[in-house]
Amino acid sequence: MLQGGNGHEFCENHLRLTNFLELQDHRALAAGMMGPLLFRDFKIYREYLTLSEQKALVEELRVAAADTPPFQPVLRSGKRMSVRITSFGARGWLPDQTGYQYAAQHPNGTPWPPIPTSVLKIWQAVSEVDRLPDSCLMNFYGEDTKMGMHQDRDEAGFDWPVVSVSLGDEALFRMGNTTRGGKTESIWLRSGDVVVMGGAARLAYHGIDRIRFGSSTLLKKGGRLNLTLRVAG
Ligand code: SIN
Ligand code: MN
Repeated sequence: MLQGGNGHEFCENHLRLTNFLELQDHRALAAGMMGPLLFRDFKIYREYLTLSEQKALVEELRVAAADTPPFQPVLRSGKRMSVRITSFGARGWLPDQTGYQYAAQHPNGTPWPPIPTSVLKIWQAVSEVDRLPDSCLMNFYGEDTKMGMHQDRDEAGFDWPVVSVSLGDEALFRMGNTTRGGKTESIWLRSGDVVVMGGAARLAYHGIDRIRFGSSTLLKKGGRLNLTLRVAG
């Protein structure tokens, strides 16, 4: 015979499980409805994309970039970037030994593929501007990669925000000031998070100190993808 105490416990656990499943289902919706986290002028939408949206997006990006594969540019300093990059859209960010610029083609001569509609929709939902981006940089972070503190300032103007989408392993994102140095704040970005850098954050220093390689199973071989959407021209 079921003891009164056990029955009570069963109900409690069942309730907890039901609540947990509902939370999972509505997590992305809730993240959007609750609005972004604010760090100065950096807006961070937690888990903006659901897991199924993330999976579909990774596959879409993989197919679209088949002829414009990620590569490791050599910078003006002569150092090779640890992160691999490629682009979508009319303008692709293309650092080389002469400096930083935007170009219409991959170094192999192939024009960048268009920015996927699903990515443009993210911009439309969070950017709070009418103009669409013409540039989408895709960074791939493997094990032991990082991105030094920098400003995004190779664009023709700074009136539009920068929107970035995280996919895969967690990354320690550091947010600084519009001049180098000073106090910074850091947050672990997770797969599906979207960051909007507008206002004072548009020209604020930021970087990725490290990733937690293998913390996500979204990418088959581990690592992290970051999409950076910008109005470049
Ligand atoms: C960047 O600012 O270039 C990339 C930021 C990120 O990977 O989250
Ligand atoms: Mn940047």
